[in-house]
Amino acid sequence: MKNLPAGHTGRHFLQIPGPTNVPDRVLRAISFPTIDHRGPEFADLGKEVVAGMKRVLQTDGTVVIYPSSGTGAWEAALVNTLSPGDRVLMVETGHFASLWHQMATRLGLDIDFVPGDWRRGVDPAQIAERLAGDPEHRVKAVCVVHNETSTGVVSRIAEIRAAIDEARHPALLMVDTISSLASIDYRHDEWGVDVTVAGSQKGLMLPPGLGFNAVSDKALAAAKTAKLTRSYWDWQAMRETGHTGFFPYTPATNLLFGLREALTMLLDEEGLPAVFSRHARHGEATRRAVAGWGLQVLCADPREYSNSLTAVMVPEGYDADRVREIILDGFDMSLGTGLGKMRGKIFRIGHLGHFNDLMLCGTLCGVEMGLHRAGIPHRAGGVAAALEYLGALDAAL
Ligand SMILES: Cc1ncc(COP(=O)(O)O)c(C=O)c1O
Repeated sequence: MKNLPAGHTGRHFLQIPGPTNVPDRVLRAISFPTIDHRGPEFADLGKEVVAGMKRVLQTDGTVVIYPSSGTGAWEAALVNTLSPGDRVLMVETGHFASLWHQMATRLGLDIDFVPGDWRRGVDPAQIAERLAGDPEHRVKAVCVVHNETSTGVVSRIAEIRAAIDEARHPALLMVDTISSLASIDYRHDEWGVDVTVAGSQKGLMLPPGLGFNAVSDKALAAAKTAKLTRSYWDWQAMRETGHTGFFPYTPATNLLFGLREALTMLLDEEGLPAVFSRHARHGEATRRAVAGWGLQVLCADPREYSNSLTAVMVPEGYDADRVREIILDGFDMSLGTGLGKMRGKIFRIGHLGHFNDLMLCGTLCGVEMGLHRAGIPHRAGGVAAALEYLGALDAAL
């Protein structure tokens, strides 16, 4: 090996699809001294972050913030709205849809889990068909993962909503946006979503530790009769935060300092439309690099390509985790592993959150060098294809 330093210097490249790189100014905000969470200064913070999250979630409804990981926000969505034995429609789009299904089963719900090949999102026609076959309205909720972090496939929520409406079915629509929120356009109100589930550690550019629910009036009404046991996750106690700024139990104060800073960056400085087009540009550049290498992305339908991550398939007989290991050892970059049944078959490139053209170029260079070093059959030229798409090779005007 030529010219490789003995140890690693400079910044680690954290290019897993979350947790993502936390901006220095967000880290600095988190490092401020903790304040009294029952005092007036905290009330302003609480109200400000709830108002900001409503803008990110594109809702005028209720937003609840938990000191939890995304899994907690999943549980909150289910236990607040459903009763033991309720039927729920879920689709196996990947590892996270499967984990949500497992949780729902453990909570005592009766799941119709539509099998999938992990290369496609939820088919709206299939939802319409399933619900049309339920004239007694036994199905109480349809749960969908918007951006499957394990596969890099995005389900088309507006079309799923239309399918539910077409079937004239009253089921609640619940959507996991843990790896899409603040990266890929998502509209809680306009798309008629009843419960949105989100987490802090991806597009919101924060460390892990905050979970979110956005809740429609219909979901709030369902909560009045829902009988699954709940205490910590009960929306009732959390709903007041938007008005009073206070939480029913000790909030993650310092993460909320960070959230306020991240919201300023996303909403007031860059603006959500620019955030979405930045992610779209980096997603497309990454896919062009993959095509340039002569490799395939896992997502089988171009309408469903993810702009927050790309899952790259390695040729049959090669180990994707070995490629990741070589890239980590040689270039100090972490890529996402293949989860569940994709283990060893794919690696995932995260291109979401606090990210720019040069970070993407460094990431793609690291992948190209790693493919070469791991002996994966591929063509050179992936990085060049991405640079060309980014306009980096255009002559100066
Ligand atoms: C789409 C999706 N849903 C749910 C989760 C679970 O969230 P957490 O690990 O924060 O509990 C993740 C985590 O990566 C995810 O990507």
